[in-house]
Amino acid sequence: MNEQNRMPYPWSLDERLFAAVTAYHEESAVAEYDQRMRTVRDVDGENRRLLEILDGFGALGPEASLLEIGTGTGALARAAARRAAEVLAVDVSDAMLRFAERKAREEGLTNIRFENAGFLSFDNSRPFDAIVSSLALHHINDVWKAEALSRVARALRPGGVFLLVDVVFDCQGGELDEYVKRSYTVDKIGERMLADLHGHIAKESSTLRWIMDGIITRAGLNIADFVPFGPIAHLYVCRKP
Ligand SMILES: C[S@@+](CC[C@H](N)C(=O)[O-])C[C@H]1O[C@@H](n2cnc3c(N)ncnc32)[C@H](O)[C@@H]1O
Repeated sequence: MNEQNRMPYPWSLDERLFAAVTAYHEESAVAEYDQRMRTVRDVDGENRRLLEILDGFGALGPEASLLEIGTGTGALARAAARRAAEVLAVDVSDAMLRFAERKAREEGLTNIRFENAGFLSFDNSRPFDAIVSSLALHHINDVWKAEALSRVARALRPGGVFLLVDVVFDCQGGELDEYVKRSYTVDKIGERMLADLHGHIAKESSTLRWIMDGIITRAGLNIADFVPFGPIAHLYVCRKP
């Protein structure tokens, strides 16, 4: 990441604001987050599924390079590092990166580079075979999502694969309340997850499917698949032509 280019204009988004307002400053809070994710999601199963999809497109292997944006505690980056030549894992939170880096060291992985950077500042000076992002894009609004995904498209080699996991509302405008009540119930996702999700919808920048479809395709990526993923998210499987 180039610090000088990080916010070149007065209107540029300071992605590090997220890191400034979040509670995850201490490694103990990050460790708690990691633990909690493993109680509400099948993190390892999700990662296996993502890697199988990449494998199916020939985007893994001894020559492959992968970028993960918003790596958090780094579980996917570490799993990917076992099946790729090199992994660049970026996040805007130093505490998350410290935790992820320590875990990688403990597991003896030497082919992951961790960097403090975000969607709008990761090093896109060289092409990647695959780019993956899980539950992170909703931290920025639709205008910046469009900027972010255009950077993602530019950073992929032709035929490269982009896997995007995030909360996306598969409904039209004016239908959100009914959609949320219908799609996310205590029976399906449990009380704690439901409360978290309600806070997420109220405060974060998850978007509608038709807007996300437009952002992805206008960035120059083809959508190969869109499927439910984990308890609350969807997965977009995208390819650069
Ligand atoms: C909910 S966590 C998801 C972590 C992990 N990918 C997962 O699936 O468990 C969201 C992560 O996105 C990071 N993040 C927030 N804003 C970001 C941005 N603009 N660019 C990259 N990462 C960002 C946060 O620091 C946090 O680690």
